[in-house]
Amino acid sequence: MKQVMMSLISGLFLVISGQGQAKEVDIQVGKNAFETCRGCHSSPNASNVYPTYYVPKIGGQRKGYIASALTAYKHEARPRSSMLANTYDLTDDVTEALAAYIEISAGKKSKAPYTGNPSAGEKLAGICLSCHTDDLSDAATGPILAGQYGNYLLKVMKDYQQGSRKDPVMQSMLADFTEENLEDIASYFANMNSLSVVR
Ligand code: HEC
Ligand code: HEC
Repeated sequence: MKQVMMSLISGLFLVISGQGQAKEVDIQVGKNAFETCRGCHSSPNASNVYPTYYVPKIGGQRKGYIASALTAYKHEARPRSSMLANTYDLTDDVTEALAAYIEISAGKKSKAPYTGNPSAGEKLAGICLSCHTDDLSDAATGPILAGQYGNYLLKVMKDYQQGSRKDPVMQSMLADFTEENLEDIASYFANMNSLSVVR
């Protein structure tokens, strides 16, 4: 028992000291690595095909979320998409550098027309705002949704509902919404002003 306690305690110490180490992230490394991403993520209203939806805006997105999304594509925890080929060989250091560069490199806030009823969406989305704020601090839990393309939001919310994108919190949050509800929620967030393409 004593041994178990000791190893628990030293395990705890490792975790704590691991968090305490401030890691140097080289923004220039992130900027260089981003060159291959520009064609899609720096062009306003760039469209993905099969299925058709706008490539998500990531300029100004939280770096913690960007890094976890890139890691999820790399390990195919998100559906195979244009992103697999762009992430399979990313190291952890480059992933973090990319994320840090993208968070501080907001560009054009391009808008694309989107149907749906934003005021109906606002009534449904109150519960979402505790996690989906514009907060860039480490305390924020969810990605910024404000200003994202409506048809991308609709597509990924359906991915969670159908289980092809997995996240226990989001899958249960969205389980009971109809497609019309999701369109209204998407238009509510799409009408806001925050995310942009990467400059
Ligand atoms: C061929 C176009 C294309 C290229 C090149 C590309 N992406 Fe993407 N990216 C996409 C698409 C499409 C999605 C949405 C995929 C989905 O449905 O999950 C996406 C999603 C993302 C997301 C998740 C966004 C979110 O809100 O969850 C991040 C982060 C990202 N890309 C970063 C990058 C980085 C970094 C690179 C370069 C290393 C890159 N992308 C290259 C098309 C591209
Ligand atoms: C308890 C916190 C929490 C709440 C409440 C919450 N979310 Fe999320 N949401 C998250 C997290 C964390 C993620 C990232 C999951 C992942 O990596 O796939 C996410 C991801 C998403 C995404 C994908 C964003 C992208 O860029 O790809 C959408 C869309 C979304 N949530 C919509 C909603 C909506 C709509 C509601 C309210 C009905 C909601 N969320 C409520 C935490 C939350």
